[in-house]
Amino acid sequence: MKTSAIVVAAGSGSRMQSNVKKTYLEINGIPLIIRTLRVLEQSQVIKEVVLVVAEQDIEDAKRLVEQYGLRKINRYAPGGEDRQGSVYNGIQAVDEQAELILVHDGARPFVTLQEIERVVEQAGRYGAATIATPVKDTVKKVADGIVQETIPRSSLYSVQTPQVFEAARLREAHLKAREQGYQGTDDASLFERLGYPVRIVEGSYRNIKLTTPEDLLIAAVFLQNESESLRIR
Ligand code: CTP
Ligand code: MG
Repeated sequence: MKTSAIVVAAGSGSRMQSNVKKTYLEINGIPLIIRTLRVLEQSQVIKEVVLVVAEQDIEDAKRLVEQYGLRKINRYAPGGEDRQGSVYNGIQAVDEQAELILVHDGARPFVTLQEIERVVEQAGRYGAATIATPVKDTVKKVADGIVQETIPRSSLYSVQTPQVFEAARLREAHLKAREQGYQGTDDASLFERLGYPVRIVEGSYRNIKLTTPEDLLIAAVFLQNESESLRIR
């Protein structure tokens, strides 16, 4: 199926506490956003990539994409007030012929080609799918500092991106959320509230979202590990 990707990279990165914008922060000499875009560039199942960055950053982003020779990033959209607004703007720029839309956080450079392939395949089959990992800790519901309930862990997943949706339904879900003033914390939740099923595709704990300075240390370890495994091969 014809699949377009939206990469959202229009956040302010405030929790990273860096003077360089998070999106452009270099990890082993390569900007974070380029690392993420490179994976989508290589994916056989992605036809085009819409990059969402803050409006004032669009020209810089275009230059960077050109500098690194990426060819699949063919449209740019300005960021919104919040992540949901940025995805909404990205949707407006997606090729109308797209049958599936993949949404991915620019801040998750460790997504793999296999994960992209699997989540796209499952969304094609079920209408929507998201990468997720089983929760490792025991999770409790708390009110006023008192535990109300221990939720059986076997039923809990942490969801990541990529999340992939049938295009027409994703457009509908975002439009309805906007009209009704509904704010979700991910795209799948907008979909779920319309009663559409979302398939879970088990991913990897490596697909972290670089959020706080500690995450840069973890990223360095992952990269070190990758280059060592390359050397062994
Ligand atoms: N994002 C976006 N537009 C926004 C807010 C967030 O495109 N208005 C993107 C971010 O660029 C990031 C992804 O959504 O790739 C996940 O958001 P998060 O990790 O929270 O990044 P930031 O919002 O940039 O960071 P912070 O919350 O620390 O400011
Ligand atoms: Mg944020």
